Amino acid sequence: MSKEKDNVRIGNEARKGSSDRTADGLADRLTRIRRELHRYPELSNEEYETTKRIKRWLEESGIAIASYPLRTGVVAELGGKRPGPVIALRADIDALPVQEETGLPFASSVPGKMHACGHDFHTAAMLGAAFLLKEREDELQGTVRFLFQPAEEKAFGARQVIDSGALEGVSAVFGLHNKPDLPVGTIGIKGGPLMAAADGFKVEVKGKGSHAAVPESSLDPIVAAAHIVTAVQSIVSRNVSALDGAVVSVTKLNSGTVWNVIPESAVLEGTIRTFDEVVRARVLERFEQVCVSVAAAFGTSASVRWIQGPPSVVNDDALAELAWEVADQLGIAPVVPVPSLAGEDFAVYQKQIPGLFVFFGTSGPEEWHHPAFDVDERALPLAADYFAALAERALEAVAEG
Ligand code: NI
Repeated sequence: MSKEKDNVRIGNEARKGSSDRTADGLADRLTRIRRELHRYPELSNEEYETTKRIKRWLEESGIAIASYPLRTGVVAELGGKRPGPVIALRADIDALPVQEETGLPFASSVPGKMHACGHDFHTAAMLGAAFLLKEREDELQGTVRFLFQPAEEKAFGARQVIDSGALEGVSAVFGLHNKPDLPVGTIGIKGGPLMAAADGFKVEVKGKGSHAAVPESSLDPIVAAAHIVTAVQSIVSRNVSALDGAVVSVTKLNSGTVWNVIPESAVLEGTIRTFDEVVRARVLERFEQVCVSVAAAFGTSASVRWIQGPPSVVNDDALAELAWEVADQLGIAPVVPVPSLAGEDFAVYQKQIPGLFVFFGTSGPEEWHHPAFDVDERALPLAADYFAALAERALEAVAEG
């Protein structure tokens, strides 16, 4: 751990217009934290060292770790000295099975694992918010609970946090994702749908094998599967309004072993993305009907297995308005973001309590999950400052009802 040796340079432009409360010391500290997390990525539900690091950083600042039964992940709490509601700030902490190709001096030291979605940025930003709020803890009109959540990439983590009881008593929850295509100094905020429900499918087409030269003896699953791939393309164009968003993608198609044998079966896999629950139900229903019926038309049979993903991230309108005001006050430019068809298990919290998920501008060179993904670290103190202020403002707003 040569974190002291990192050449930490933070430009001034990003802080221009930001709150004066953001000290240079904080920017440097958060950059060191982010780089240490970046160097030692851990996959979903394996975040043991990351968990230890987060606890260490919190404890160094005298922030209380709350006791909830989580194997990985950390819950911490601040405030509570004055009566008031509880609001939660959530950051995800896991990395991806991606081989890093950034060439950064603090690149991943673990082969095949990388913080390629910037959850190191989220973790450092929320730690920064905690450090700032610790300094003004006595004035907090209620309690701020920090959810450092494991296993977002596998969409298990939010459920684990809820099952641990850490969402109990919380009135509102806030979270962020870095956004490479938004410049540093901007923040994407919108009420309503922001990210998609992300369901997976696995379709098995069963037929009858034969010698390749005697197709009339077969029920060819490859021909049936090929027609299924084509037929499901019509679901978005013919069964979904042009004003609603949806995606149906077949991403894997396996069948056969050799050139002169018609195989017994074929397997298709892929994903369906939707924003609206009614559209989601409709697309899933049509998908199953098309698979089963097309397979039957070729004398084969199809069975569909669903890998249920998180629901759509749907933001609370009042919280979005509040977040917009706070951005304005801090001199961070709020913009209305284009919704993303990616999934995010923050949505699982929003099924329980009002929540707001925002996109924080990080001027990244590549999109999420790319081997050369990176964030502009000048966004770190901005995000810390922003979430500290948002938490304070949300406590007041919830108390006012
Ligand atoms: Ni992510």
